Amino acid sequence: MRLDVVTIFPEYLEPLNVSLVGKARARGQLDVHVHDLRTWTHDRHHTVDDTPYGGGPGMVMKTEPWGEALDTVLADGYEAGHGRPALIVPTPSGRPFTQDLAVRLSEQPWLIFTPARYEGIDRRVVDEYATRMPVHEVSIGDYVLAGGEAAVLVVTEAVARLLPGVLGNAESHRDDSFAPAMAGLLEGPVYTKPPLWRGRDIPDVLLSGHHGKIARWRRDETLRRTTAHRPDLIERCAPDAFDKKDREM
Ligand code: ADE
Repeated sequence: MRLDVVTIFPEYLEPLNVSLVGKARARGQLDVHVHDLRTWTHDRHHTVDDTPYGGGPGMVMKTEPWGEALDTVLADGYEAGHGRPALIVPTPSGRPFTQDLAVRLSEQPWLIFTPARYEGIDRRVVDEYATRMPVHEVSIGDYVLAGGEAAVLVVTEAVARLLPGVLGNAESHRDDSFAPAMAGLLEGPVYTKPPLWRGRDIPDVLLSGHHGKIARWRRDETLRRTTAHRPDLIERCAPDAFDKKDREM
């Protein structure tokens, strides 16, 4: 998969060299290109923003640098034969970023991210590129960040761990929180050695070796935790989802 990120803070994307994403890059599973938006400015101050039409506080990112940047990135990627790109626009006014979208993005050959600063990018930029490619305006949560770069890191990590061969164990996605096999609910608690720590032991069932009982315990913990932390997920869950998993045990 190819990733392009256009930003006024390229150094903010340095964590893409670390850990899982960094290793995926080193193995050639991810081809990451970070670009400085100011490359596509032509004035002495490398201006990327201006005052908003209609008045109001803050500044708006200008059309021209974004247009030139995206045209250049697109030409480069097409020349390299990357297939059809999707444009990912991080914004607090986007659709919520979910595991389901992470899975769909992980199936794409090429993602282009446009993290904004200030009050956002002049709307015409998204409208223009939406005529040429799928555009996903995504929010990583109901809060406002100073810019979209942290959201790019979040989306990239969620997507990269789903790419074939990036996580050691392909099964590991199956029981992720939000996964279909989990009926979209939350994963319960996990334990490892030692069996006794500061007077705290682990649930007996996990030592029983009885797979059916362990699966049932995990199911109960999933329901308990989801009810406590995310009752909205229980309401959204298909009524028979858990009975079906129960029958498989
Ligand atoms: N930019 C600023 N806040 C954001 C958010 N919550 N999600 C995505 N991009 C953002």
